[in-house]
Amino acid sequence: MSRSPRIARTVSALRRELDSLRARKASIALVPTMGALHEGHISLVRLAKRRADKVVVSIFVNPTQFAPTEDFGSYPRTWKDDVAKLTAERVDLIWHPDAKAMYPDGFATRIVPEGAALAGLEDRFRPHFFGGVATVVAKLFTQCRPDVAIFGEKDYQQLRVVTQMARDLDLGVRVVGSRTVRERDGLAMSSRNVYLSADERRAAPTLHRVLKQLATRLRAGDDIKPAVRAGAAEITEAGFALDYLEVRHAETLAPLGPNESGPKRILVAAKIGTTRLIDNVAA
Ligand code: PAF
Repeated sequence: MSRSPRIARTVSALRRELDSLRARKASIALVPTMGALHEGHISLVRLAKRRADKVVVSIFVNPTQFAPTEDFGSYPRTWKDDVAKLTAERVDLIWHPDAKAMYPDGFATRIVPEGAALAGLEDRFRPHFFGGVATVVAKLFTQCRPDVAIFGEKDYQQLRVVTQMARDLDLGVRVVGSRTVRERDGLAMSSRNVYLSADERRAAPTLHRVLKQLATRLRAGDDIKPAVRAGAAEITEAGFALDYLEVRHAETLAPLGPNESGPKRILVAAKIGTTRLIDNVAA
């Protein structure tokens, strides 16, 4: 039977645990999560294990990245199940602060990311989001001082934002992106998939199907605009309210000029019922 990971709930307990790992000259990988762990998170943990001697997983549902109208209160919290999954993966340490430990009374400092954080994608629909993510991730990085940190490519704009932040602020951590894990029908795994009704779940793989079709058309040299229009129509016909379907530069997330070369990423966000899904693929 695997040994349960150590659990730290205060910054001082976390320091003690990390000091003892570092005394043994261990390299450390951090996997930041909000819990409700699924196979996608487990793939991040497995990549972390390949990249460092010891793996720390943070579980913290970060209030500052949710707008008051969003699902902070109802976000799935599955602590016991999460610990069992991390035990099975032989994770070394779980960092599980409460909101007071992360944001003590009088907390008054925030990170305001620019660049990819203002690309006009998620930020257009969730203007509070990247400030909240950058602030908590900067704290997680300074609390844990990992050598490497693993983030899923599913939240592709987030991955670009934290990569840039780590570089800009010399945080001394290498940010590594990990491939999106999908259900058999292509739906990207997400803690929010549990919100989908049976009908919505049946329609949900449309997003990935459209992304793949669009990537194929772009690789074949089709014009971006009509290809995106056709993809958007298919998503809407499947019952989604589309927020965006866009082809962007894969690193800067800037819009692409005509005939622009360089790596491309196709990103989508759409709501079905009350659930908002995001996804992306390389093109
Ligand atoms: O992707 C997530 O789960 C969250 O945005 C993160 C990176 C853990 C920050 O709260």
